Amino acid sequence: MKKVGIIGSGIVARTLGNGFLKYGYEVMLGTRDTAKLTEWKENGGDNAHVGSFQDAARFGEIIVLAVTGRIAADVIDMAGPQNLHWKTVIDTTNPIGTAAPENGVLRYISSINESLMEQLQNRFPEIHFVKAFNSVGSAYMVDPAFEQKPSMFICGNNTTSRNQVKDILHTFGWEVEDMGKATAARAIEPLCMLWCIPGLQEGRWNHAFRLMKAN
Ligand SMILES: NC(=O)c1ccc[n+]([C@@H]2O[C@H](COP(=O)([O-])OP(=O)(O)OC[C@H]3O[C@@H](n4cnc5c(N)ncnc54)[C@H](OP(=O)(O)O)[C@@H]3O)[C@@H](O)[C@H]2O)c1
Repeated sequence: MKKVGIIGSGIVARTLGNGFLKYGYEVMLGTRDTAKLTEWKENGGDNAHVGSFQDAARFGEIIVLAVTGRIAADVIDMAGPQNLHWKTVIDTTNPIGTAAPENGVLRYISSINESLMEQLQNRFPEIHFVKAFNSVGSAYMVDPAFEQKPSMFICGNNTTSRNQVKDILHTFGWEVEDMGKATAARAIEPLCMLWCIPGLQEGRWNHAFRLMKAN
């Protein structure tokens, strides 16, 4: 059975954790405070585990990074970067700042020519980051129920890792749009800003992106 280590305890970590459990993986969620995951573990059954950030990083053959974007590098330091070397790390994070949104537009701490994932990739070159799941709300991450399959945009420098993430996304019910190298995170991370505008302006959170293609 494949082992997934999920670094994080929030709604994204728990939702993806449940998705991986549903599709036959063994899952460990990592947190500074395991008490907050007691219910998740009880509901998850024998294949659901809880530990520290380090425990989850060591446990996973595949890793999911699901923590607050602005402290993501610190969390990787806490998890022990050596525990993640040469592993695929699915990066769900967005570089959202602490300032209030303006007209429904989130404030980012990254710039248009340097994404958060590129910063992480430069700082931890031995880790195979793949951006995914950042451009949709947690409610639709697993088995998204729309009339047509929505598109998940991914990128990352390692082709094998991108292919691993593609397989997972297909299992979870997504069309995958592979945008290539980590540089493409400059375009993929801001999709979260776009996704959130109808929510922050009008309370509508029930959508996902789809890339339309002519024949
Ligand atoms: N919510 C969504 O629907 C959604 C959708 C797409 C992408 N995302 C992105 O996914 C990521 C996770 O989002 P989320 O809503 O599940 O949770 P979140 O509230 O953004 O993050 C919670 C996690 O961050 C860790 N954390 C926060 N501050 C920390 C600090 N100072 N030091 C160490 N760890 C810290 C927490 O650790 P502990 O476990 O120790 O408390 C927890 O595991 C974010 O980057 C978000 O932008 C979210």
